[in-house]
Parts: sequence; C-alpha cells; structure tokens
Amino acid sequence: MSMSKIILLLLLLAPLRMAAASPDCAPGREPGMEASFACSQMWLLKAEQDLCVRIMAWGGVDMSVSHKEEETGYVSLAAWFAVESFEVTRIAARNQLNHNTSLSGEERRAYEGCMKDYALAGRSITRVADEMLPSCRFTGLSGEYNRALNSIVSCMNRLSALARVNTPLYPMVLADQDKAVLAYHLATLIGVV
Ligand SMILES: *[C@@H]1O[C@H](CO)[C@@H](O)[C@H](O)[C@H]1NC(C)=O
Repeated sequence: MSMSKIILLLLLLAPLRMAAASPDCAPGREPGMEASFACSQMWLLKAEQDLCVRIMAWGGVDMSVSHKEEETGYVSLAAWFAVESFEVTRIAARNQLNHNTSLSGEERRAYEGCMKDYALAGRSITRVADEMLPSCRFTGLSGEYNRALNSIVSCMNRLSALARVNTPLYPMVLADQDKAVLAYHLATLIGVV
C-alpha cells in the first residue's frame, strides 16, 4: 500500500473510531450542546471557531440547531483530529529525511529533533483521545494537553531557527500548532483550564 493510501485510510477511520468511542461523561444530564454553539464559544478566536466547524464536519457531526450532543464528544473529536494530523506530519518528516537529498544539514537535524517532539506529542494527545476522555478521566488532562502542545512548539522553534524559512515541514507544523491549541481550548467546555 502506498503512503498516501495509508494516510487516507487513517483519516477515514478516525471519525468512525471516535463515534464508536464517543464517551458519555454526564449520563442522565440532558440535553448537551449544539455543535455550532460549542464552536462559537467566546474564548475561541475566529480562526479557531472556523477550524472547530471543519473538525465537526470531518467527524460527521450533525450541525443543525435541533441536534445536541454531550460536550465531551466534541472535545474528543478535536483531540482525534490532532492525533491524525500529528501522525501525518510525523510521516511527512520521516519521508523528507529518507527521500529528500536537498535537505541541508541543519534541516536534517531539525527534522530529526521534530521526529522526537512528534513522538512525545503523539503519545500525549493519543492518551487524551484514546484513554482519558473515553473513561471520563479529567484529572491530569490539562497537563497532557500541555505536553502535546509544548512538543509541537518545540518542533516549531527548531524550524523557525532554520536559515531556510520555507522548509517543507513548516506549514504542517504551524497547522498542527493551531489544532493542538484548539483541542486544548475546546476542552474548556468540560472544565479543563
Ligand atoms: C526538499 O527539500 C528542499 C529544501 O528544504 C525543499 O526546497 C524541497 O521542496 C523539498 N522537496 C520536496 C519534494 O519536498
């Protein structure tokens, strides 16, 4: 299977996995929240609100005003979106290291550092999406989101320090940073600060 097919498969499977694992952390407490309302919280910047709506569409969430879901579902979806995106970026970094002979020495060192950052970021955000949210374990969530975000920022700093400003990985890491921030900010819905 080609790499692009594998990535496509990852992206297609994620919403299904999320739907299957959609947690109900407030049983009996009706009625939850509309997705459009969740995405328009005042603490979210306009760009974050737009990204939030994109994530809901990716997860196949019904955006109509008559449809409400428990907040943890939305938070979980944003975390899964980050999981998949981080994985795609990590694969892209590895592909560049393996196949791009035009990378400079300092680019190679930065990409190798980023591979380590992304391993840590992936571990933290996967723990959030796959372990903590599904079991409604909110203690320590903030720390885990922080670790994920800090690892992405660490990679961002490596790339920002490069002489070549438009290194191929840069836009992907920039987008991952936005996704990590949004996932964290959206978790405010379930009391994570
Ligand atoms: C390979 O790396 C160089 C240097 O950063 C970059 O300009 C080029 O776009 C990369 N090639 C591909 C196919 O990504």
